[in-house]
Amino acid sequence: MINRLIISLAFMVSALSAAEPWIIAHRGASFDAPENTLPAFELAWKQGADGIEGDFHLTADHKVVCIHDFDTLRVSGKKLVIAESTMADLQKLDVGTWKNPKWKGVRIPTLDEVLVTVPHNRKFFIEIKSDEIIVPYVLASINKSNLSRAQIVIISFDQKVVARVRKLAPDLVANWLTSFDKSKDLSPNAQKACEILTKIGANGIGVKSDARLDIEFVTQIRKQGRGFHVWTIDDVATAKRFRAMGADSITTNRPEWLRSGM
Ligand code: G3P
Ligand code: CA
Repeated sequence: MINRLIISLAFMVSALSAAEPWIIAHRGASFDAPENTLPAFELAWKQGADGIEGDFHLTADHKVVCIHDFDTLRVSGKKLVIAESTMADLQKLDVGTWKNPKWKGVRIPTLDEVLVTVPHNRKFFIEIKSDEIIVPYVLASINKSNLSRAQIVIISFDQKVVARVRKLAPDLVANWLTSFDKSKDLSPNAQKACEILTKIGANGIGVKSDARLDIEFVTQIRKQGRGFHVWTIDDVATAKRFRAMGADSITTNRPEWLRSGM
């Protein structure tokens, strides 16, 4: 009973004192424009996003390209497997029309092209979808860009990728992504998540929004001095709940709309 009271009080205090989370545009402003394309990223900046998130794969000719799936079928109507295709072949595809004919002719961008769109002081969450072999190529692009290290957040579900980034570029932030089992108890729970973060040296965790996440989970992560980020939220009430829990960032498909509702 006392414990519950203390947790409720801690939640109320953190709700009152919580800093505003960064609003990160998931695959760009992807509610309004075709995901993971330059128009979606440019629109995210126009919509006042604090940062963008994009998904990156390595092509057969070792270029880093921005697309979510492991093949191009869903966004182009033609199936090319990214890891087996050259960048030139991938860039022949139209990945805009599926969203709306007004985006006809939009192409798959490279990491270098997306880096160029990022304004001063805004964030770029680079999600690595390929395995750890891609890491040196991603780091090379970041190194030759004009962005500061503080603007970059590497994210990945792959623990080996996060560990490799932290080893090769310890001055970059790299966060581990996880969702949760549908089983009754939260899995991974806070203790297990903390063990994984420690093992791979991650700076923080990016969690899939889940009603079972509570202030206790966040407190455990914070006790380790690590960041707490959440995706993908297109719902104002849920965004407010995570803001009150002290989330460092909220990733959304609708940055302008979500912020105006918060
Ligand atoms: O920001 C993390 C989130 O993008 C992970 O899920 O499938 O949309 O890449 P997914
Ligand atoms: Ca992603």
